[in-house]
Amino acid sequence: MKNQNAITALSQTLAEEYLLMLKTQNFHWNVEGPLFYSLHKLFEEQYTFLAAQVDEVAERIRALGERAPGSYREFLKISKVEEAPADRVNAMRMIEILNDDHESIVKRLEQFRAQADEIKDNTSVSIYDGLISFHQKAAWMIRSHR
Ligand SMILES: [Fe+2]
Repeated sequence: MKNQNAITALSQTLAEEYLLMLKTQNFHWNVEGPLFYSLHKLFEEQYTFLAAQVDEVAERIRALGERAPGSYREFLKISKVEEAPADRVNAMRMIEILNDDHESIVKRLEQFRAQADEIKDNTSVSIYDGLISFHQKAAWMIRSHR
């Protein structure tokens, strides 16, 4: 079942999850201050989870017969998530940035999930369900450090 909207949604999801994974790893490396240990550990758990998820999403695109995007150039073109700032970011700003990213991704994933549900693409629905739960929990765990 090849549906261009389904592929576009999965490709955007792959791009956004990949860029969020890198941003989370960036913050894992660069976080400083009294919250260092807690955020360093939390960010590691989150980017590790995302690494497995991006693989699922990419392979779903392949299973539907399309090429999976796999370069930062392509990801940046189709992602609404932005890369981490190049300059120094303090821990509170990291918390704000990631909380916003997780919350805004959830909104897009809910739309993609509804589209997938409409065309009875149950496998993609279940991928979106897993991601939505993860991002809701991730946003909560991050913003609880404020
Ligand atoms: Fe590490």
